[in-house]
Amino acid sequence: MIALPPPLELNYPLGRAIAKRRSRRSWLRKPVELEKVSTLLWAAQGVTSKEGFRASPSAGATYPLELYLVACDVAGLEPGVYCYSPGEHSLRIVAKGSLCRELGKACLNQEWVSTAPLNIVIAAVFERTTGYYGRRGVGYVYIEVGHAAQNIYLASEAMDLGTVAVGAFYDDEVARVVNLSRGEKPLYILPVGYPIPGR
Ligand SMILES: Cc1cc2nc3c(=O)[nH]c(=O)nc-3n(C[C@H](O)[C@H](O)[C@H](O)COP(=O)(O)O)c2cc1C
Repeated sequence: MIALPPPLELNYPLGRAIAKRRSRRSWLRKPVELEKVSTLLWAAQGVTSKEGFRASPSAGATYPLELYLVACDVAGLEPGVYCYSPGEHSLRIVAKGSLCRELGKACLNQEWVSTAPLNIVIAAVFERTTGYYGRRGVGYVYIEVGHAAQNIYLASEAMDLGTVAVGAFYDDEVARVVNLSRGEKPLYILPVGYPIPGR
C-alpha cells in the first residue's frame, strides 16, 4: 500500500476553470507531481464526509467506479499500474512498468494516451448498482462516470494540467493492459499532463 500525499486545496476560481476547460491532446515533457495526481484521484472519487460519501455523487451511494492510475512519468512514483483506494486515500500496485504506450495501442493508437505522463482509467463494477436498481442501474453507472470525469477535467485546469476524455478503445485490450479484475469494465480513460500552450 502506498499512502498518497493529502490532496491540494484548490483555490482556483470555479468559473475560470469551467470557462477555460478544453480537451488537451499534446503534452510538455514534464513529470506530474504526486500531490497533483493525489488531487485528481481525490476530486474524482475521494472520501469527503465522515459517513464515507465521495466527491462525485453516486446513485444510492452504491459506488460502482474503480480508478486505475497508469503512471509513466509521475514524480515520486515508480512507473506502473495502481488501483486507487478512496477510503485510505492510497494506491495499491497492480503491475510494474511504463504502460502508457501499450494503453495507447488499446485506444486505437491515440497519441495523447501513449505520450501522457499518466492516464486515469475509470472502470465500473455494474453489479454494485444494478444489484440495487436492476436494469435502470446500468444507466446510472454511465452517468456517474461522467461526474467523476468532469471533476478530473476541472481539477486539471485548476492545477495548470490538462486532460481529454477518451471513450474510443477496445475494452478487452484495456482490461488486459490495466490488469482489471473480473467484473470490472473500462468506461473512460483520461490522459493527463502539462499541455503545450497554444495547441
Ligand atoms: C463520451 C466521450 C467520448 C470521447 N472520446 C474521445 C476519444 O476517444 N478521443 C478524443 O480525442 N476525444 C474524445 N472525446 C473528447 C471530445 O472530442 C471533445 O470533448 C469535443 O471535441 C469537444 O471539445 P472540448 O472538450 O475541448 O470542449 C470524447 C468526449 C466524450 C464526451
